[in-house]
Amino acid sequence: MRIGLAGAGRIGARHAAALCELPEVEALVVADADPSRARDLAARLRAGPACGRAAGRRPDDAAAVDVRAAGSVADLFGEGPPGSALDGLDALDGLDALVVTAATDAHAALVERGVRARIPVFCEKPLAADLDGTFHIVRSARAAGVPVQVGFQRRFDAGHIAAREAVSAGRLGRLHTVRSCSFDATPPPPGYVPASGGLFRDCAIHDLDAIRHVTGRNVAWVMAAGSDRGGEVFRACGDVDTGAALLGLDDGTLCTIGAGRYNAAGYDVRLELFGSEDSIVAGLDDRTPVTPVPEPAPGPARPPAYAGFLDRFAAAYDAELRAFVDVVAGRRTNPCPPEEALEAFYLAEACEISRREGRVVHPEEVRL
Ligand SMILES: NC(=O)c1ccc[n+]([C@@H]2O[C@H](COP(=O)([O-])OP(=O)(O)OC[C@H]3O[C@@H](n4cnc5c(N)ncnc54)[C@H](O)[C@@H]3O)[C@@H](O)[C@H]2O)c1
Repeated sequence: MRIGLAGAGRIGARHAAALCELPEVEALVVADADPSRARDLAARLRAGPACGRAAGRRPDDAAAVDVRAAGSVADLFGEGPPGSALDGLDALDGLDALVVTAATDAHAALVERGVRARIPVFCEKPLAADLDGTFHIVRSARAAGVPVQVGFQRRFDAGHIAAREAVSAGRLGRLHTVRSCSFDATPPPPGYVPASGGLFRDCAIHDLDAIRHVTGRNVAWVMAAGSDRGGEVFRACGDVDTGAALLGLDDGTLCTIGAGRYNAAGYDVRLELFGSEDSIVAGLDDRTPVTPVPEPAPGPARPPAYAGFLDRFAAAYDAELRAFVDVVAGRRTNPCPPEEALEAFYLAEACEISRREGRVVHPEEVRL
């Protein structure tokens, strides 16, 4: 399987390394708007143990993954100047799949190009920077019959999977309350913020998808608020660094979401579900950055708290990419289709309107 990857930043480097571990992946072509980033990532992958370790391959083996850097994003799509493309590999029509890990405002155009080339696409969340772009991709992917898998990795997190099973089996009784949180230990780099779409579309969109996925319910209304007492970059973009939302599900269950960029104790993603028969929580373990007070008698030293999404969701990222390779190989159905990303985006949009206008918003208001 030959895969093109567009976007060699934080998550692009993580996904590229994971792809190199999969036995089905024979070649990986990395592209970035900044070609030096693509070259650096390709060189790191070629030199590093990720290049085929789990599959029992070594970079110098004939069976090792063939990792290359495209001279430009255009080269990845076969649109670069003659002779510039991919050191011998064909351009996109020679690739079997596209992975989009570029900045959010570049997603829609990149996904559309993959869909037009009729190859399966994995795209990081959010699928597009705005509602129109997301809606358009849903329509074009459906019309072309091309699978587009969206990177809501919580669907592959062991805790979220167990929570969904518990709810659907009725083990909690009547679900009445859900609490979800997503707190970054440190804010993203300032350059990331302007293209991110804002806290609700960029960060809380994970909570919105997880709530729908785990409960199996739709959201009837939202009420959201935000606050800005951190870095100037958030204010300058009209964004907030801390947000909260209250959601009513269509069966009357109440949900809260807390999301923020300044949680120095560590990276904290939890989903708590309370029912008439039992209560459970996904994401609470030795590394969850919360300390009970008063502190219990000293016991064994705890491992370090989760520092960020890369260590909190390592297993989930690996699992979603294994799933994507299975989708490309035609071995499974798409676990996170664009329609689901659109539903989550409607809710993020509703939260954004609610926090700006200070009122309850029903998703029908934003539905296209
Ligand atoms: N699922 C998750 O947990 C998760 C975590 C982090 C980021 N993300 C998503 O992944 C995306 C990237 O985030 P990041 O943290 O890696 O950002 P980043 O800023 O570290 O990297 C983005 C990269 O995209 C490149 N780029 C910009 N426009 C491009 C284009 N048109 N074509 C190719 N490359 C382009 C930039 O040069 C940069 O190298 C964002 O959409 C973000 O929402 C998801």
